[in-house]
Order: sequence, then C-alpha cells, then structure tokens
Amino acid sequence: MKKAKLILDRDYIVSAVDPRIYGSFVEHLGRCVYTGIYEPGHPLADESGFRRDVLELVKKLGVPIVRYPGGNYVSGFRWEDAIGPKENRPRRLDLAWKTTETNEVGIHEFCEWARKAGSDVMYAVNLGTRGPEDARNLVEYANHPGGSFWSDLRKRNGAADPFGIKLWCLGNEMDGPWQMGSKTAYEYGRVANEAAKMMKWTDDSIEVVACGSSSTTMKTFGEWEYTVLSECYENVDYVSLHRYYGNPHNDTPDFLASTMDLEDFIRTVAAICDAVKGRKHASKQVNLSLDEWNVWYHSHEQDEQLHKREPWGTALPLLEDVYNFEDALLVGLMLITILKNADRVKVACMAQLVNVIAPIMTRPGGGAWAQTIYWPLLHASTMGRGISLKTVLTSEKTDTKHYNDVPVVDAAAVQAKDGTVTVFAVNRDLEEPAELTLDLRSFGLAAPKKHIVLHHDNVNAVNTEDRPEEVKPVEVPCRLEDGKLILPAASWNVIRF
Ligand code: AHR
Repeated sequence: MKKAKLILDRDYIVSAVDPRIYGSFVEHLGRCVYTGIYEPGHPLADESGFRRDVLELVKKLGVPIVRYPGGNYVSGFRWEDAIGPKENRPRRLDLAWKTTETNEVGIHEFCEWARKAGSDVMYAVNLGTRGPEDARNLVEYANHPGGSFWSDLRKRNGAADPFGIKLWCLGNEMDGPWQMGSKTAYEYGRVANEAAKMMKWTDDSIEVVACGSSSTTMKTFGEWEYTVLSECYENVDYVSLHRYYGNPHNDTPDFLASTMDLEDFIRTVAAICDAVKGRKHASKQVNLSLDEWNVWYHSHEQDEQLHKREPWGTALPLLEDVYNFEDALLVGLMLITILKNADRVKVACMAQLVNVIAPIMTRPGGGAWAQTIYWPLLHASTMGRGISLKTVLTSEKTDTKHYNDVPVVDAAAVQAKDGTVTVFAVNRDLEEPAELTLDLRSFGLAAPKKHIVLHHDNVNAVNTEDRPEEVKPVEVPCRLEDGKLILPAASWNVIRF
C-alpha cells in the first residue's frame, strides 16, 4: 500500500476558481462542427440543424466558454465568408487541415448554438493571413449595438442584438511554422499590440489573449513569451499556453507523470509575465489562458493516411482519438494541475469538444456518447467551483523515464459556496492502492459524504457507441478510518465533505 497525506485548512487558499477553466474548444476541423454539433439531416437535429443529443452531453458538462473557430483553421479564415445567406457563402480550401470548408456555420450559427449550450464564446481572430483591420471590423460586427456599417450588416443578417463576445484570442499559435502567416516573436508582438488596441477601442469591455508558445517543446519557448509581452503587455489580459501529451511508447508511468511538465510550463510562463511586468514598472498582472490542452496522439497515423487518400474533403474524420482509461487519468491530473494554479490560470479549454480529440463522439446519422475523458472533466466542472484550497500534500514518490520525484498521489481541493469541500485525487500507481490521510484542520474531521471512483482494470479500455459505459465512474462506500481513505490503484477519485 502506498501512502500519502493531504492537509487542508480554510485559511490556506490558492484563489477563487475562475469557472472559465472548464472551457472547451470548437474548431472548423474534421467532424467537430459538421456532423459534430451541426448535422441538419440527423433525426435529433433541432430547427437550426444542431444535434440535440450532443447539446445534452455538452450541457451536462457545464461548459462555461467555448473557443471558436480555431485553431490552425483561423489563421486563414475570412469571417465574412460565413455570414449572410448560406447559399451565397463560398466554399474555400482550408490550408491548415487540407480540407474544403463550406462556411455553412459561421458566427451567427455558432453564437446561437453556444446560447443553447449555456456557454459564452471566446472568439479567435485571424492574425495569420489578416490583421488588426479585419479584427476590429469583426468586433464591431459582433459587439457594436448599431448605427455603423458592420453592426448594421449584422442586423440585416438577422441578429438585432449584439453577440456580446467578451473574450478574444489574438490569433493562434503564431510561433508555429505550420501556421498560415506565422511570425517571429517581435513581428507578432507588434501586430498583437495594434490589434488589441483597435479591438478595445471598438469595445472597451472586451479582454484579449496574446499567443504564447504552442508547446514547451518549441525552441523559442520562453524567449517568445518575453519578446511578445514586451511589445503588447499594456494592451493584453492573458497569454495563451497550449499543451498536448501522448503515450506513443506505451510507458504509462511516464505518461502519467506528464503533468510535472505542465506544472513547470504554467509556473515558467507566469514568471515571464511577472518579469515583463517588473521591467515595465507596470501594476497590471497578465494571467494565463491554457486554451488548448488534452491528450493527442492516437489518431496521428490514421490522419496521415486519410490526408493522402482524401485531400480537400469536407467533414473528414480527422483527429478522432479514441480515448482509453489511462487518458482519463491524465486528464484528471491535468485538471488537478490547473486547479492548483488557479491563481494564474483563469481560462482553460480542453481541446476539443466533439469528435476532434474530444470528450464527446458522434456517428453521422447515429448516436452520441461520452469518451473516458468526459468523466473527470464533468466532475471537475460540476464540483470544482468555488475557492481552490492550498493542498499541502506529502506522498511517496517515484522516478519515470523523463521525470524524477513524481508523487504517487496528486490532489487538488475546492471549497464551494455552500461550504462543501471536494477533493480530486489520482493514484498514479498501477498496482497498489494508496492510503490517503486527510487532515482537514479547521474544517474539523467530517466524514466524507461521497466518494466517486473512476477505475478500470485495463488501462487501454475505451468507450464506444456499442459499449458507451465500459469506463464510467461509480460511487463507492465512504470509508474513512482514522482520517484515512483508500484510493484504488490507477484511479481518479472525487471525495466530498
Ligand atoms: O486542436 C488541434 C490543433 O492543435 C489546433 O488547431 C492548433 O491550434 C493546435 O496545434
């Protein structure tokens, strides 16, 4: 039996949890939009063509904000292509994913879908092939009440009221050579600054996110953030972080230790923000938007073949990772890491929402089901709102191929408005259960009300349309003896007091 101890006190807090950390992402990529959220001919489609079964699964997740419309896609996107009568909208080649975009869904349709899902929209502007002028026109189109060219055009296109989009991304992954119109840090920093200024002059209630590095693995990581922020610090509110992990060599302990890298990534970018703040003698703090995160590797090979077979198709099954049980554990660990850093991470978007590296899968004309990774996200989103508590955690440690001193147990805790304390904990050990001693100090030694466990004996188990509940959480009896609770081997746990 492994051992760990968690101390919580109502006076030790990290920060209020910004609900936007449970955000998601919908890109015009693969089947995320077409046959994902939108499939007019489907038996469950509503009057606008949105799949009701998908909306139900999204609503259960409680997704506060959805990033849209990309991703790599946005860096070549002309937003005006996707407004006005559908029959007049051009079909365009999307160079990011080598597909053809029909533009059937654009800002009007997506904002309608988001309203039905109960989500706000986080809109990314194209700073790849376009620039500040198009970005400020789009803000005017979306948010200005009326009486100007773009806002009146919106009205003529059927939206009398502004969409009221409050959070905007200044492009996407502009450091990546795979991006249309990629830039050096200095070039991007200048453009981002000018775009941010003009967008905020159009609507001073918005917040904007500058692009940070697309991964910790980029050679320019660190230098990129410093240079970009040196150019635009005064006019931006957040800097983005993107991070995907994978287990291509089937080394589960090393895979489950990947959040050591995520922790470092977050703390390093926060430190760089503060270094720029110091150098500029600024009082404002720039926070972090982890606006793409997930596991992504299962579909790489399949996508290569698909691109060779079917270039320029529409709604191709791209990036359709089928997630297994160990992926759900890593997603749980990523959520724990985000919660522990709630003082700096104010927005986070699991990439993506439907079909494309997603917690929800659909079959065209068929069913919709929850992948394994749906469950930790659902738990954190529905039970992890309130105050993120400091977790003073001691745990046995192990070494893996790429990481040293990896705690066997990792945990985060949140106190909700009604006083309920929820602990999210993962036992990384694949063989042995862990005994977690809970010292709740000022909370008193209350008995847990609920203990939910996500576990499967096979780390490769997956959910499919035929077996949608192969991996699903179960409630177990709350056994707390001498303040000790047992976390099964390889398990995601939600413990509520
Ligand atoms: O989410 C898939 C892709 O990953 C996004 O389009 C891009 O921003 C990132 O590289």
